[in-house]
Amino acid sequence: MIDLPVLGSPAPNAVPEPLTPSASGGPRVFIETYGCQMNVSDSEIVLGVLSANGYGLADKVEDADVILLNTCAIRDNAERKIHERLGHLRVHKKRNNNLVVGVLGCMAERLRTKLLEKELVDLVVGPDEYRRMPELVTAAMGGERGIAVKLSKVETYDDIEPFRTEGISAWISIMRGCDKFCTFCVVPFTRGRERSRSLPLITDELLRLQDAGFKEVTLLGQNVDSYLDESTGADFADLLIASAKAVPSMRIRYTTSHPQDMSDRVIAAMAEYDNICKYIHLPIQSGSDRILELMNRTYTVDHYLGRIARIREMMPDCALSTDIIAGFCTETAEDHQATLDVMRTVRYDGAYMFAYSPRENTKAWKMGDDVPAEVKNQRLQEIIELQNDISREINLTEVGRQHHVLVEGPSKRNNEEWKGRTDTNKTVIFPHEDQRGYIVGDTVRCTITHSNSATLFGKLD
Ligand code: SAH
Ligand code: SF4
Ligand code: F3S
Repeated sequence: MIDLPVLGSPAPNAVPEPLTPSASGGPRVFIETYGCQMNVSDSEIVLGVLSANGYGLADKVEDADVILLNTCAIRDNAERKIHERLGHLRVHKKRNNNLVVGVLGCMAERLRTKLLEKELVDLVVGPDEYRRMPELVTAAMGGERGIAVKLSKVETYDDIEPFRTEGISAWISIMRGCDKFCTFCVVPFTRGRERSRSLPLITDELLRLQDAGFKEVTLLGQNVDSYLDESTGADFADLLIASAKAVPSMRIRYTTSHPQDMSDRVIAAMAEYDNICKYIHLPIQSGSDRILELMNRTYTVDHYLGRIARIREMMPDCALSTDIIAGFCTETAEDHQATLDVMRTVRYDGAYMFAYSPRENTKAWKMGDDVPAEVKNQRLQEIIELQNDISREINLTEVGRQHHVLVEGPSKRNNEEWKGRTDTNKTVIFPHEDQRGYIVGDTVRCTITHSNSATLFGKLD
């Protein structure tokens, strides 16, 4: 599986990232991020707001005056993880009675005052209220518990400089919210209506990132194809082109496209500019038209396959990944087979695969959850096994090929080896050859020597 986490997939840094210790002398904040990249980007906005107001960063939980959990509500297990984490934080609260614990993000927006019923929680702040963080944290430090969960039709944090803790790859949210209302999904409720940032401010931010030495940026939105800069009328294809031109030396990625809205112009822009990475995440969810309709996905399998054909015609080497839900309500064995069939037809490089988790207040909640857990899990297992086989086969065809690899740092397993990513978003592990003089952030050429379903292994050319 491709290891760039997608919107809604398990957090890239559910394990707390070490942050720079406070230099300001103000209260020290520790933030843990769960959920999708949108949350990673939002945590950087929260830290941006707080650091501009005299707050510093704690490099571990034990040193923090304020602990913030930026949460996800997409599936029940995402929320369960947060409840467990809150349980663990009790120890810290016992040790330091003045400690402020805040819950931010999608779960804050969904559960609201219910979270304040937990004795431990001092603050509940939804995704559109982060400008109020300094005021709310100060009040909480004075013993006043607070909640701010209003959704906004306009908030894009356009003028906030995110506080980035990593120097090679950056995230930029180009739009917020989602108006699609897929019947299984909480995002339209937790993040509100769609709104876009202004194009010139995005390209300004890209230039600042380039000046600061960043090599790669991912433009983020739940449905980037709905991007619309109201002042200029620029759409997502225009934004991609403007971004590619603004920072020609940076790699540009984006996520997520919606199969109904992905235009030929977007595909053409990707094909035209070398620095737009040849990788598309295009969630299909199910291979059955009947289920797609129940999900309100607004496309048919035929339409979806038409988009894939167009992508392959314009960019034969473009890598593709998808999201699949197993066991949506009323899903039959036949519907499930249809999903497996589509996977065999498209042959995705990778996929994020989930068992359907009913979410309160969504339309699908009222449809019931009639596929028994064992059947759901059995189908999910079949989907995962099929995808692993396909990924393994595709990655075998990579052996002998050369790739430009952006060096990200030492591999997790072995310090003698380095890790980087191809344009097509595949992880490459290669032996560290210091004498060659390359450093993190450089792009090196590697030949692939072997591979498995998740990773390519190579050597420097
Ligand atoms: N906006 C993106 C996805 C956001 S959520 C898109 O439309 O593609 C990421 C993924 O989580 C979804 O694509 C879906 O596969 C999965 N997901 C969302 N709600 C879910 C639910 N209730 N149960 C199981 N999986 C879900
Ligand atoms: Fe959820 Fe659908 Fe919006 Fe994606 S497009 S965030 S799945 S409602
Ligand atoms: Fe992302 Fe989870 Fe919210 S997937 S948008 S953090 S519900």
